[in-house]
Amino acid sequence: MRKLIAAANWKMNGDVALVDAFAAQNWPQNERIETVFGLPATLLSTAQAQGLAQLAGQDVSAHESGAHTGEISAAMLKAAGCTYAIIGHSERRSDHGEDEALLIEKWQQLKAQGLAVIYCIGESLAAHDAGETAETLRAQLQPIIEAGLIDEQTVIAYEPVWAIGTGKAATPEYAQNAHAEIRQILAEKHARIAPSLRILYGGSVKADNASGLIAAQDIDGFLVGGASLDVRSFLGIIEAMT
Ligand code: PGA
Repeated sequence: MRKLIAAANWKMNGDVALVDAFAAQNWPQNERIETVFGLPATLLSTAQAQGLAQLAGQDVSAHESGAHTGEISAAMLKAAGCTYAIIGHSERRSDHGEDEALLIEKWQQLKAQGLAVIYCIGESLAAHDAGETAETLRAQLQPIIEAGLIDEQTVIAYEPVWAIGTGKAATPEYAQNAHAEIRQILAEKHARIAPSLRILYGGSVKADNASGLIAAQDIDGFLVGGASLDVRSFLGIIEAMT
């Protein structure tokens, strides 16, 4: 049985008051579900001090340390209490031109620090309309697989770009197809661990669509943006998962 993950991705939102509100909530952490909070880097230490768990960086530097102004290293994320880091989010891919070659370097940095990776993939609207979803997923996964980076800790977040922040979540059937495809691609090189890897869905997840999506066989939780910025709405998603 795969343990479900409810992961919040605050993006460039939130403040100390929001951390306070989240830290005051008693989040269900049990053998069925784990919670992950992807906060802005400046809030991580505050969240750690308040006992909010588990924490994730929203990105990481491809470098270990040194003269890289503005960058945050994997060791810094770890020191700030992170056990996870999100990489490859579509906003990083589009705003900063991040590609698989760079993401491999970031992943290596995280692995060296023992941080688990939440690796985001997903097709654009154009690829979706052209019927190229499977090709896109393969192109985003194959270089990572070939670099030997997939391990038991790996979490994949399938986030169709057209569903992010649009209010138009994928249907459970559509998402399940993509998740099954992803698990199949992983199984080609990693037959032993592929059945136990967690694959999250992201893109306009709300409390009212979460139960339908989580019922799909290969959906093992969510990466949530907008609806993770409010204690009640994020809790509503977690309740819909259980
Ligand atoms: P959304 O964002 O839930 O606001 O659609 C999801 C994400 O980008 O991780």
